[in-house]
Amino acid sequence: MARPHQQPILINGGRVIDPANGRDGVFDVLIVDGAIKAVERSIPTDGLDGDVRVIQAGGLVASPGFIDIHAHLREPGYEYKETIATGAEAAVRGGFTTICAMPNTDPAIDNAAVVDYIANRAATVPARVRAIGCVTKGRKGRELADMEELITAGVVAFSDDGDPVYDAGLMRLALTYSRDLGVPVSNHCEDHELCPGGVMAEGWVSSRLGLAGIPAVAEEAMVARDISLAQLTGGRLHLAHLSSAGSVAMVRQAKERGIPVTAEVCPHHLMLTDAWALGGKGDPNVAAGPFAYDTHTKVYPPLRTDTDVAACVAGLADGAIDCVATDHAPHERVSKECTYHEAAFGISALETALGTAMTAVHSGAVSLPTMVARLTAGPARVLGNGLSQFASLTPGTPADLALFDPDATWTVDVSKFASMGRNTPLNGVELRGRVAVTIVGGRVVFEEPALLNKGDAA
Ligand code: DOR
Repeated sequence: MARPHQQPILINGGRVIDPANGRDGVFDVLIVDGAIKAVERSIPTDGLDGDVRVIQAGGLVASPGFIDIHAHLREPGYEYKETIATGAEAAVRGGFTTICAMPNTDPAIDNAAVVDYIANRAATVPARVRAIGCVTKGRKGRELADMEELITAGVVAFSDDGDPVYDAGLMRLALTYSRDLGVPVSNHCEDHELCPGGVMAEGWVSSRLGLAGIPAVAEEAMVARDISLAQLTGGRLHLAHLSSAGSVAMVRQAKERGIPVTAEVCPHHLMLTDAWALGGKGDPNVAAGPFAYDTHTKVYPPLRTDTDVAACVAGLADGAIDCVATDHAPHERVSKECTYHEAAFGISALETALGTAMTAVHSGAVSLPTMVARLTAGPARVLGNGLSQFASLTPGTPADLALFDPDATWTVDVSKFASMGRNTPLNGVELRGRVAVTIVGGRVVFEEPALLNKGDAA
C-alpha cells in the first residue's frame, strides 16, 4: 500500500547518540517518507522540499526511540486498568516507540488468535506494539504453549510474567525450543516457597511495618536454576526485572562463562529502596501521614536495599545487564487504596522511566551514551526478531526517535498521565530528564512545547 506523503523533518543541532552506530556528537538528522534519510554534521535547509518541519534540537539529545521489552498493556481482559491505546500513548510520552506486551491478559496470549487481536487493536495507536507469547498454556505452568504457532503469529518472546515458569522440566523444554526457534524465554524469577505471603523486601522496613517479607534468595534461587538450564540447553534465557545484587553477580559470571543469558532491570530498581514503603518518599525519618505505608511501592520484585540498587546500576554500566525495561504495571485506583497485603503488585512506569533511570546518569555511575544504549540497541539485541531496524539512526531504517532534555527537571503529576494507571510512588517527586519529542515512522506522535521552545532559544 502506498504511504501517504509525510512532511519531511529536519532535526537541527541536537546531540545525536546512536549507540548502534557508535555515534555521539552534534549532528542534523533528516527524515523523509518515514525513514532516516541522512545524519550529517550540517544539512542545509535550502535544498529541501518547502514544507519541511525543522525541529531546533539545541540542548536536546536525539536518539533512536526507546524500546520497552516488558510492559503490561492489560488488553484483552483488564481494560479497566489500561488499554493498548492508553498504554501506547503513555509510551510515546516516555520516549518509547516500541513496546512489548506481556501475556498476563485474559485470555492470555497463548494462541495466534489473541496475537492477531492485539495486532488489530494496535494498528492505529501511536507506538509500535509487539506481543510476547505465553511459555505455558493459559500461564498455568502445566503444559507448553504452541511456541511455533505463536512465532508464526508474530510474538517476539515468551514469558509467563507475573508468574515464574515453576516446573524446571518445562523450563528446560522451553529453553531447548527457544534455541531452535531463535526467540528468547523471559522468566519472572520467584520461588514462592521462599516468600509465602511476602509483599515487600525482607528487611528492617518489613519488620518495622509488620509485613511479610520476600528475601532476595526467592529471586536468586530461580536465577541460579535458570542459568544452569541455559548452560545445559544452550537456550535463549532472558531474566526479567532483576533486582538483587546476588542476581546481578550471577548474570555477570554466567556471561563471563559464555552462557547465553540476557537480563533487564526496571527504572524503579535503579532509584528506589524499600525505605520508600514507609511513605516518606525514601526518607526513613519522614512519617507516612495518615497511612503507615505507601502501597504504591508494592511491586514484584520488591524494592530492596541501597546495595541492591547500586548493584543494578553497576550491572547496567558494565553490561552485565543488557537493558532497562519498565515492567509498566498499571492498576486501577482501588487496587492500591487498601492494605499493603491486599494491594496489587505493580508500578505505572512508562511516563517516568527516563527521569527515573537518569538518576543513575546524574549520579555519575552510568554514562549517558550507555544509558541510551540500554534503552535502544540493548533491548533490540535481547529480542532480535527484526527489532534492530527500530534501534538505530541508520539511513534507510524507519525513523523512530526520542528527543529528550537530560537535565530538564519536572515534578511527576499522575493526574497528567496518559496511562490509566496512576499507581506510582513517584507522584509529586522531582525527576531530572524529560522527553521533548517522540517520532514513530517519521511522524511526530508526542511533543512537549516547553522543552522545544527551550531548544529553539538555544
Ligand atoms: O509488580 C508486578 N506487576 N510484577 C509483575 O511481575 C507483574 C506485574 C503486573 O502484571 O501487575
